[in-house]
Amino acid sequence: MILLTGGAGYIGSHMLLKLLESNHKVVVLDNLLNSSYESIKRVEALSNKQCIFVEGNIRDSECLNSIFNKYNIDAVLHFAGLKAVGESTEKPLLYFDNNISGSLQLLMSMQKYSVKKIVFSSSATVYGDPDELPISEECPMSMPTNPYGYTKMAVEQMLMQVVESDPTWSVATLRYFNPVGAHDSGMIGEDPNGTPNNLLPYIAQVAVGKRDKLFVYGNDYATYDGTGIRDYIHVMDLVEGHLSALDYIVNNLGYHVWNLGTGSGHSVLDMVKAFEKASNTNIPYQIVEKRAGDIASCYADATKAHQQLNWFAQRSIEDMMEDTWRWQSKNPDGYTN
Ligand code: NAD
Ligand code: UFG
Repeated sequence: MILLTGGAGYIGSHMLLKLLESNHKVVVLDNLLNSSYESIKRVEALSNKQCIFVEGNIRDSECLNSIFNKYNIDAVLHFAGLKAVGESTEKPLLYFDNNISGSLQLLMSMQKYSVKKIVFSSSATVYGDPDELPISEECPMSMPTNPYGYTKMAVEQMLMQVVESDPTWSVATLRYFNPVGAHDSGMIGEDPNGTPNNLLPYIAQVAVGKRDKLFVYGNDYATYDGTGIRDYIHVMDLVEGHLSALDYIVNNLGYHVWNLGTGSGHSVLDMVKAFEKASNTNIPYQIVEKRAGDIASCYADATKAHQQLNWFAQRSIEDMMEDTWRWQSKNPDGYTN
C-alpha cells in the first residue's frame, strides 16, 4: 500500500489516478489547505476505484503514526507542501513549518514504522540561476532566493543525510521543471486559489474571460524573443515518471535524484501562441516589469531519467494546451462548480 501525501492537490490527484489505474492500494493524507475533496471524488469516478482518504496534517505525528499503524504502507509519495513563491517571501516561517517540519515528522514516523522508501517532490528551483543549460543533476544546488525554494533544498539535504546514516533507505528526489496540463478527460486539473501565480493557469483564466489580459513579466531577457524560457512538462508525463521512480527504488537502495522535464524550452510568447491555437481564443497581453527572482532560461537535461528509469516525457506542447483548455473550459470555476 502507498501513502500519498498531498493527493488532493493538482499533481497529487493526477498521481492518485495513475496509481489506482496501476492497481496500487492508496491512502491519501491531505489537509485540503489548497485543494478540495472533489478532486478525490473525480479520480475515484474516473478510475472506478476507491482510495482511503485521511483529512489530516503531515505535521501531526499522531495522525501519521495512526496511518502507519493501521495500514501496511510499503512506500510514501510525498507531495504535501505549500508552493507559492511570493507567499513564502511574506511568510517564511509558515513555509519552514509546513514544508520542512512537516517532512521531518513524516520521516520520523516512517522510521518508527520501518517504512524506508520515499519519493519526494522537489523542484528545479534548487538549481537557482544555473551556469549551464540544459541543467543536469550534476549541476550544483545553489542557495535559493526565496523561502519556498529553501524548503525544497533543506528537505533534499535531510533525505540525503538520512540515507547516509542508514543505507537501507531508498529515496527518489524528483526535481520537477514546470508541470502544466491536465488529465485528458477534463475532469481533473489545476485549480489555483485566487490569482494564479503560474503562467498556464493565468492564460487559461484569460481565455475563459475571468481575467482581462496576461501580464508578461519582461521582454528583454537574453532569449530568442526576450521573454522567459521554461521547460513545460505535461502533468501526466510527470506522474508516470513517479511510477518509474517508485519501481526503481523498490529494487535499488540509496539516494537517487532525477530531473523530470522534457529537455526543451519554450518562451512565454510561444506558450501564448500555442494556447491561442489550441483553444481558438485570443489572449490579450501586456509586457510589464520583470518579476523579482525570475531567471531568463531554465530547461532540463532529462537523460538520466531516460537512461535509469526508461522514462521520458511523451506529450507535446499541443497536448498540454489542449488538455489545459479542456479542463478550464469544462470547469471555469475549478472544483467549486
Ligand atoms: P498543490 O498545492 O495543488 O498540492 C499540494 C497538496 O498538499 C494540497 O492538496 C494541500 O492541501 C496539501 N498540503 C499542504 N500542506 C499540507 C500539510 N501540512 N498536511 C497535509 N496536506 C498538506 O500543489 P502541486 O502543484 O500539486 O504540488 C505538489 C508538490 O510538488 C508540492 O510539494 C510542490 O512544492 C511540488 N512542486 C510543484 C511544482 C508546480 O509547479 N506545481 C513545481 C515543482 C515542485
Ligand atoms: N510569467 C508571466 N506572467 C505570469 C506568470 C508567469 O510572464 O502571469 C512568466 C514568468 O516570468 C516565467 C514563466 O512565465 O518566465 C513561467 O512562470 P511560472 O510562474 O509559471 O513558473 P516559474 O518557472 O517561475 O516557477 C515554477 C514554479 C516554482 C518552481 C519552478 C521550477 O512555480 O514553484 O517552476 O520548478 F520552483
